[in-house]
Amino acid sequence: MTENKKLLLLPGDGIGPEVMAEVRRVITWLEQNRELAFDVEEDLVGGCCYDAHGVAVTDATIEKAKAADAVILGAVGGPKWDGVAYAARPEAGLLRLRKDLELFANLRPAICFDALVDASSLKSELVSGLDIMIVRELTGGIYFGEPRGITDLPNGERRGVNTNVYDTHEIVRLVRVGFELAKKRRGKVTSSEKSNVMESGLLWREETMKVHAEEYPEIEFENMLADACAMQLVRRPKQFDVIVTDNLFGDMLSDEAAMLTGSLGMLPSASLGAKGADGRQAGLYEPVHGSAPDIAGQELANPIATILSFAMALRYSFDRGGEADLIEKAVEAVLDGGLRTADIMQDGMTKVSTSVMGDAIVKQMDKLAN
Ligand code: IPM
Ligand code: MG
Repeated sequence: MTENKKLLLLPGDGIGPEVMAEVRRVITWLEQNRELAFDVEEDLVGGCCYDAHGVAVTDATIEKAKAADAVILGAVGGPKWDGVAYAARPEAGLLRLRKDLELFANLRPAICFDALVDASSLKSELVSGLDIMIVRELTGGIYFGEPRGITDLPNGERRGVNTNVYDTHEIVRLVRVGFELAKKRRGKVTSSEKSNVMESGLLWREETMKVHAEEYPEIEFENMLADACAMQLVRRPKQFDVIVTDNLFGDMLSDEAAMLTGSLGMLPSASLGAKGADGRQAGLYEPVHGSAPDIAGQELANPIATILSFAMALRYSFDRGGEADLIEKAVEAVLDGGLRTADIMQDGMTKVSTSVMGDAIVKQMDKLAN
């Protein structure tokens, strides 16, 4: 008997709890139909945690997350907490999880499902078959650099400061993840920075080129300035395979890439740490979309991104690629069958609620498996 897998679910705020409820159904299906057993715990993060404890994540939850084999997160934030200080904002809970678990590599696939080609704001021939992987640095750069803050100046003005700082090892370990992924994909890596104006960008470029030359000469490689990359993503997105980039540019480029696919509601992500000597690797999985407070509690949210995030957990944390494939195939089949949540609704399709979508995916897993 192998030990049960430890899963920590952090539904968070807004639509987070609704979409996480559908993940629970997928977990139940796997337990009933596959030799898989999970110890599932649930906890607070984000605004809901601030309301309960005055902080966006508690020390106890961080410890639970460290002990878990994988963490699945819904979404955090909402206008309710706009007035809260930065250190206690819902987003701070997510940032602390990333930092404390040392989840330096954020994998954000942008895949265009055939059934949704027309939902993209780009012409269908530009996005049909699109499959990009953005690898975003997640524990460094301007998100965490010191000095930072807002200070009062003698002249009565105020000054806001953030620092973009990268050390060699932070760049090297991140771009290696990108090169390794490219090996299993189409063998191309684009590294994106602003080496024309930023020293941190120049270092990024030099270190990345060195890793390429010394360790991955067989991989096709190019440097692309981040502004040009943003432009090329909407001009000819299929030129890309893997994009490696820093924390801030990765935040922006991944939202842009996500929109190419027709809906943010479709896209999962994985945030991974280094593999320890014992083979353990921290992993946090979350949809790319936010908490969408405007539609929360109305059964309008699309649960697919969170369900696909759980599929990524199966693939990367549990080595259960077969089950991950099954979930992904089930999602595709449900879309091919014409079911749509409001965010991806198109003429002639059937509009369904969050739970009907979750139900359909589980039923489809049943069908595909038996
Ligand atoms: C993301 C989000 C977060 C980020 C926010 C919620 C802190 O935009 O995961 O892309 O900026 O990293
Ligand atoms: Mg973002």
